[in-house]
Amino acid sequence: MARPHHPDLFGPDAPAPPLPNGFGLWRGALDRLDQLALLDDIREILTLAPAYRPTMRNGTAMVNHLTNCGPLGWTSDRQGYRYVDRHPLTDRPWPAIPRRLLAVADTFTRALGVVGYEPDACLVNLYAADGRLSLHQDYDEVDFKWPIVSVSLGASCRFVLGGLSRKDPTMRFDLHSGDVVCLHGESRKRFHGVAKVDAGTNALSHPALDPWVRINLTLRRAR
Ligand code: SIN
Ligand code: FE2
Repeated sequence: MARPHHPDLFGPDAPAPPLPNGFGLWRGALDRLDQLALLDDIREILTLAPAYRPTMRNGTAMVNHLTNCGPLGWTSDRQGYRYVDRHPLTDRPWPAIPRRLLAVADTFTRALGVVGYEPDACLVNLYAADGRLSLHQDYDEVDFKWPIVSVSLGASCRFVLGGLSRKDPTMRFDLHSGDVVCLHGESRKRFHGVAKVDAGTNALSHPALDPWVRINLTLRRAR
């Protein structure tokens, strides 16, 4: 695993500096072998906890399929957004968070000065070529002192980072396969989303990516 380094503020797709306090971006944090190893883990997770497409409170289906690993998993249905300890379709507990993913979370939260991060939930977001994620806050966790850690695999995407109010201005920059992002401190409750995925940029060939083009893992401390 690559050692944490300062965000690449000067690369072609880099956001204009400065990045907001508490927002960590480590470009190329995971090399190709790390990424393929994580995809092996995701393939196993998908076998035990199949991808599904949740509905929102109003009954409309979400754009992306998802699954989870960890003691808790994030889901949505007519009762709203929440964490549950079982897959809603199989009624089985979610598979464990892969050890190497816990190691990534530990490394990059330490880089932000966080000690003792023990994520209990990991959302696996599966993006098809037309996948996207509307602007939202991660707001269903109990204690916002713990960061969110996100790992991107597969195709690049246009990431949107806003402020603490939905109306605040947003900045846009690309996330690539192997990038790690943390939302922490002043940035923990920033609005964020994915405007679009650039399907043609996926350079990884792995069965876990079929039929998806991009997979994002977000680790959280939910309770
Ligand atoms: C999320 O906010 O849950 C996922 C963000 C991403 O896919 O990069
Ligand atoms: Fe999010």
